[in-house]
Amino acid sequence: MSVALAATALPDGLRWDAGRNRLKVLSPALADVVLRDPHIITGVDRSRAGMATAMPEENATPSITQFFELWYTVSDNYAPFNTELRKVFTIRSADSYVDMFERMAAERAAALPADGDLARDYFSPFFMDSTFAMIGVPEADWPNLTKVAKLVIHLFKQQLLGVTDYGAREQAAFAAVMRYLKDLTDRLLAEADSPFVDAARRLSAMDRSTWPIAALIGQLLMAGIEPMIVGGAIASRMVWSDPELPGLLRAGEVDAGEVAEECMRQSPPFGNVFRFVAEPCSCLGVPLEPGTIVAIDTEAVNLAESGPTAPVRGCPVRPTAVLTFGRGGHYCLGANTARRQVAAALRALVTARPGLRIDPAAVRIDTHNNLKEVRALPYS
Ligand code: HEM
Repeated sequence: MSVALAATALPDGLRWDAGRNRLKVLSPALADVVLRDPHIITGVDRSRAGMATAMPEENATPSITQFFELWYTVSDNYAPFNTELRKVFTIRSADSYVDMFERMAAERAAALPADGDLARDYFSPFFMDSTFAMIGVPEADWPNLTKVAKLVIHLFKQQLLGVTDYGAREQAAFAAVMRYLKDLTDRLLAEADSPFVDAARRLSAMDRSTWPIAALIGQLLMAGIEPMIVGGAIASRMVWSDPELPGLLRAGEVDAGEVAEECMRQSPPFGNVFRFVAEPCSCLGVPLEPGTIVAIDTEAVNLAESGPTAPVRGCPVRPTAVLTFGRGGHYCLGANTARRQVAAALRALVTARPGLRIDPAAVRIDTHNNLKEVRALPYS
């Protein structure tokens, strides 16, 4: 398949990436085709033996692989989960959390040491705690849930790198974390009060076990927190590259959400949105065989209509022309809340720390994997 595609003259907007063995999509029009095409799907292999029976017993814990198979986006219950969850993450409900996000960000910013690393000391704890608070987790559980989030994020990255063998210590740590997550889930379902927990309660009636809800909480933590850290880091690097911009944000003359949107348009946390060809088709103008990996280049699509502009001017294109949070049926569930969390983090930083300095040349953001990774974000 790759040989055939590699030898074919591809239409504009398509490129065969021989090194990574996948078809790159670079134009907005072809990205739209891919994201609507019924022959090209998200990475779900429902035929995999054992997936349907992957539910652990109530008092057992899932293996690491089993845990990832319990995620709602790869489950047969995707449609009802998606319907319920979309009601929780609307623009209106995201707006109702803004005061809380601003208060939590202001407290974090005021407590920052004189110098350190902003990703580690500020963005990571703020995005963790504000997400926990939003989903209704009691404050006493935040330190433990931080450990769950960090381990799940680490294991997910390992999985993306192809690691499937885990050492005994890692498996034991995972089992302990899973027992805690399951216990927390059952307590939330029994006692907590939040729009997310209300939806989770309705969804928990669909299965004989609450493991899918525990997996859902794990999935939201993994899907959301790391890209927000990357988005916050990208935005702060750009903001502090413009000597005027922190002051304009502080004075409220420029909107932090608009600035963050433009920064993430130019440098999106996810390099690609991936799809897989499920049935033979020619919808992209070339014959595609099942199994072909299609990688839509987020940055190329974002910048096709208008190249990078100074972030102080905000995002120059329509929201629908931006692929930072995906598009169509799998559009990011957390886009509305993530945008407000990143904006609240920036606003609090410029307000509480007027003298803060970030040397853009010292910032390290690794772009090797699909989700960029913050290696260093030193501030003083
Ligand atoms: C700056 C932060 C974020 C970025 C850049 C981002 C980006 C994305 C992108 C590009 C997709 C589409 C993937 C695809 O079509 O294959 C996506 C999907 C998703 N995101 Fe986000 N995301 C962010 C934050 C969050 C947060 C905070 C949450 C959870 C609260 C979240 C939960 C999800 C989920 C569950 C999906 C899958 C939706 C579905 O398949 O129906 N994301 N995200």
